[in-house]
Amino acid sequence: MVQATPFLLVLFLALGAHGLAVKKCSLTGRWVNDLGSNMTITSVNANGVFAGSYYTAVSAHSTATNESPPQGSHQKGPNQKNQPTFGFTVNWSFSDSITVFTGQCFVDDDGKEVLKTMWLLRSRVENIKNDWKATRVGTNVFTRLQSQE
Ligand code: BTN
Repeated sequence: MVQATPFLLVLFLALGAHGLAVKKCSLTGRWVNDLGSNMTITSVNANGVFAGSYYTAVSAHSTATNESPPQGSHQKGPNQKNQPTFGFTVNWSFSDSITVFTGQCFVDDDGKEVLKTMWLLRSRVENIKNDWKATRVGTNVFTRLQSQE
């Protein structure tokens, strides 16, 4: 037992140091996705609620795209570790549509933060008969805009 103590101490310190070295993924900042859309998350409050701006590079309905506000939150409970799950809604300012995104903030093997998301884009249709074609689904991967690093 006496001989094992220094070994256990070294192991404990090594594991502790490793834990400290794990990079946290933070949603705050400027992001670009695989479609070329830009999102800035400006404020995240103590409850994990955030807001910012979103410029989509594409649209299903309009050629003109303006800034639209994303509103969402990320996990902030006792279970939340370094790579939080999150969700946000974009209420498009130039169309009748709404998109909801859900995803997770990861740190990849190169230490780069990446947001892996899935979305549902709900378009407005004239009547209930057209409801079947009103929702699109897809994925987006966001990486931090280089200029900010
Ligand atoms: C619209 O077409 O009415 C609003 C714009 C929708 C843009 C979609 S949302 C999902 C996907 N990801 C983006 O960054 N843009 C498209």
